[in-house]
Amino acid sequence: MNIKNICCIGAGYVGGPTMAVIAKNCPDINVTVVDINEKRIAAWNDEDVENIPIYEPGLSDIVKEARGRNLFFSTDVDGAIDKADMIFISVNTPTKTYGIGKGMAADLKFIELCARQIARVSKNDKIVVEKSTLPVRTAEALKNILDNTGNGVNFQILSNPEFLAEGTAVQDLLNPDRVLIGGGIDTEKGKNAVDALVDVYAQWIPKAQILTTNLWSSELSKLTANAFLAQRISSINAMSEICEKTGADVDEVAKAVGMDSRIGPKFLKSSVGFGGSCFQKDILNLVYISKSFGLNEVADYWEQVIIMNDHQKRRFAEKIVKTLYNTVSGKKIAFLGWAFKKDTNDTRESAAIHVADYLLNEQAEIVVYDPKVTKERIYADLEALGTHSSEEIRDRVKVINTAVEACKDAHAVAVLTEWDEFKELDWKGIYNDMLKPAFLFDGRRLLDKDELKKVGFEVFVIGS
Ligand code: UDX
Ligand code: UDX
Repeated sequence: MNIKNICCIGAGYVGGPTMAVIAKNCPDINVTVVDINEKRIAAWNDEDVENIPIYEPGLSDIVKEARGRNLFFSTDVDGAIDKADMIFISVNTPTKTYGIGKGMAADLKFIELCARQIARVSKNDKIVVEKSTLPVRTAEALKNILDNTGNGVNFQILSNPEFLAEGTAVQDLLNPDRVLIGGGIDTEKGKNAVDALVDVYAQWIPKAQILTTNLWSSELSKLTANAFLAQRISSINAMSEICEKTGADVDEVAKAVGMDSRIGPKFLKSSVGFGGSCFQKDILNLVYISKSFGLNEVADYWEQVIIMNDHQKRRFAEKIVKTLYNTVSGKKIAFLGWAFKKDTNDTRESAAIHVADYLLNEQAEIVVYDPKVTKERIYADLEALGTHSSEEIRDRVKVINTAVEACKDAHAVAVLTEWDEFKELDWKGIYNDMLKPAFLFDGRRLLDKDELKKVGFEVFVIGS
């Protein structure tokens, strides 16, 4: 089957870049990205491509090239579903905040809404692709809804998990380690559907890198990949605390360990804790699935990755308080960075949010600078925790447009995101404008500790 029209429901961090790259590489396929959020779609359609709602290096150029040619952004969900041969579901699947599985299970209400809408609208056969990360066997629920509420057309469900990392999304999509496609490969129709999606990716990715599996293996592989990646970070972060006690240096340990080809060097950078929309959510999901099968040891094993990550964020904040003579009440702490990693404006689960919340409990005054995150986003992140009132947050947290200004008259500076520009700052000038002793807490191991000590800072670096 030759795919001519693709629709993607969800114009977010995954749907937007993924569809832009498909459109770029498959000029014969019309790609329409739809979303219920009108503001977001308007931003994707902004005449100035620099105003698209997601910041990713290289993305605006691709949107510029393909938009209006074979890449479209729209709020007409029904219209796009109707036209499409293949529909990607790329809506968010947050952790449930209510009822059974609260705080752990994935909330699938948006997925279900999409399925019902696809069933209602479809007048011809469709291939439905799960792009969102989902609990294992969600495809079954999806198929049930589609088959039982549909108009008698045939739906094939595929799982095609996304492995892109934010900040490098475009490169990851253009040049993925692998593409994974799960489907009903034991039936003729299922196989044809898998082949149709393979052919889309094969337009720019070597076939040897396109893996096909059964549906459940594909769904589980995504959770497994994220769990393994997060586990490496929690493992090195556990070591960072031992390093601080023993005089070892966590980067030296990571290098020595990572040169073992069985271990490898990536994802061994100690930090103030991992964030992002996926790691915590997917592991909690894995924990919930394990528990629901009565696999308590498996659940405990994976939950420890999250426990370690929460500990890492808390102990960084505690270190700031302890170092500042056990009180930060009324003291100005400058936060450099708010995003969960560099080169993105995404802040979901960012460590900075939790460190700030802890310091607010201690009545600190926080001044934030992040090159890509807006003031409204920062306030919304803190308000969403529900631990401090909106008034208190706006009173105690200030968001400033330059790093130098943020650090002026501060008692301490804390590096929360590894933005490259922080390495180039005039640290001597910043030191001169701070209260003394001037403390610096590097939660990303970004800066040159010896240089900063020479300038006069009292420096704490995670993991040494
Ligand atoms: C994705 C995946 O979908 C998620 O499962 C994965 O684990 C992380 O990344 P992401 O693209 O980052 O989510 O989410 P987000 O940026 O929130 O985008 C989702 C979009 O779907 C939003 O713009 C939202 O408005 C839209 N949406 C949601 C719909 O269009 N319809 C709905 O019913 C629900
Ligand atoms: C992750 C997965 O990498 C990706 O494959 C999946 O599709 C979605 O989830 P993402 O969350 O966008 O991607 O970014 P990633 O680069 O994995 O970073 C996640 C968090 O881990 C960030 O907070 C980052 O700072 C942190 N991290 C990463 C570390 O603390 N140390 C490391 O060595 C690597």
